[in-house]
Amino acid sequence: MNILILGSGGREHALAWAVMQNPKCDKLIVAPGNAGIAAIATCADLDILNGAAVIAFAEEHAIDFIIVGPEAPLAAGVADDLRNAGFSVFGPSKEAARLEASKSFTKEICDAANAPTAGYGHFTDAEAAKAHIRANGAPIVVKADGLAAGKGVIVAMDEQTALDAIDDMFGGEFGAAGAEVVIEEFMEGEEASYFILVDGETCLPIGTAQDHKRVGEGDTGLNTGGMGAYSPAPVLSDEIAQLAMDQIIRPTMKAMADRGSPYQGVLYAGLMIKDGQPRLVEYNVRFGDPECQVLMMRLGAQALDLMQACAEGRLAEATVNWADDHALTVVMAANGYPGAYKKGTVINGLNSLPETAHEMCFHAGTAARDGQIVATGGRVLNVTARGATLREAADRAYAMVDQIDWPEGFCRRDIGWRAL
Ligand code: AMP
Ligand code: GLY
Repeated sequence: MNILILGSGGREHALAWAVMQNPKCDKLIVAPGNAGIAAIATCADLDILNGAAVIAFAEEHAIDFIIVGPEAPLAAGVADDLRNAGFSVFGPSKEAARLEASKSFTKEICDAANAPTAGYGHFTDAEAAKAHIRANGAPIVVKADGLAAGKGVIVAMDEQTALDAIDDMFGGEFGAAGAEVVIEEFMEGEEASYFILVDGETCLPIGTAQDHKRVGEGDTGLNTGGMGAYSPAPVLSDEIAQLAMDQIIRPTMKAMADRGSPYQGVLYAGLMIKDGQPRLVEYNVRFGDPECQVLMMRLGAQALDLMQACAEGRLAEATVNWADDHALTVVMAANGYPGAYKKGTVINGLNSLPETAHEMCFHAGTAARDGQIVATGGRVLNVTARGATLREAADRAYAMVDQIDWPEGFCRRDIGWRAL
């Protein structure tokens, strides 16, 4: 089988790593890919937001199955274009991708499904939004309605911060994404992520994870795309996961099917858990990054079979074989991230790292230049390991981190601390 993965981050490196282990995979192309992916698959330059270009590429390379990594091509309708052209695709339609692309849409679906989530108001006018904030007080959460690369959420602990966020959003700071806002009740609790494959009808859980969003140790400092993650998430016990399935996931997926836009792909549910009760924080329509890295390390080759069963509507007959193990990933980022940082700095020591079924350094933002690996982004490497315990996974991951020679990069030394 010839497989095409769209994307270029650590998530796509992990997907490629798992897919390559499956004997069904004859040829793997990742577009655009990165320097780490190039070591295990063919990388190709391709505008992945351009449906016609992706179709032409898939035809030229006789692709049998396409996995869409990031949200942007999904929100642009690339999965629809490919399916309409006759390809088998893992990833939701443009309409179903609104679960990530529009916060107000997700709130409406939760209303229709009676799913537990934060109370909210939806505003297209700054004065009405401010009146809502003044009436409800802080803490309160202000969200740009559209895709804002993870930066469109302001958790305001005081009223003035929330009012300023309204000015910023309606003032154009988030472009079109901020032309509408959702204002939510602040939820307390512990967050965890739940990953579920959905084929329009059947919902099959494939794992839980927790990430560390803050840049600093002890979960302090600025928000980032994620500085590390681990799976499973102890806070998401079997019992709470079942509640989330019964009260949130299945009802909302049924609401999607009922309105004529069944969901197909991986559903990433961000949950807030308090007193044994989960509530939905948000949906994403793709794997988390870096959560995907720990999930793929635990799933291995079967990930391809599961994604194919999902795309072909066969999840009712699929099963997930879970080892009773743990995985953990440490993100190495360029000094300065999530603020300004240098690009093009050289990373040494990568060649001597172990590459086994339980240790892998996934690349998130790298390129090969003059025979060396250089950093090309903020989050650059995802040093990932698996173990019988979380402690063992963490020790293995940090042993690899210590072999990497990159003076211009840093990582948090406490990934997994809550669970450890
Ligand atoms: P989102 O992009 O909607 O996941 O929001 C980003 C982060 O903001 C979440 O992971 C939470 O940590 C926080 N957050 C979002 N909504 C709420 C809420 N209603 N109450 C408390 N925290 C929230
Ligand atoms: N790690 C958070 C995300 O992928 O959205």
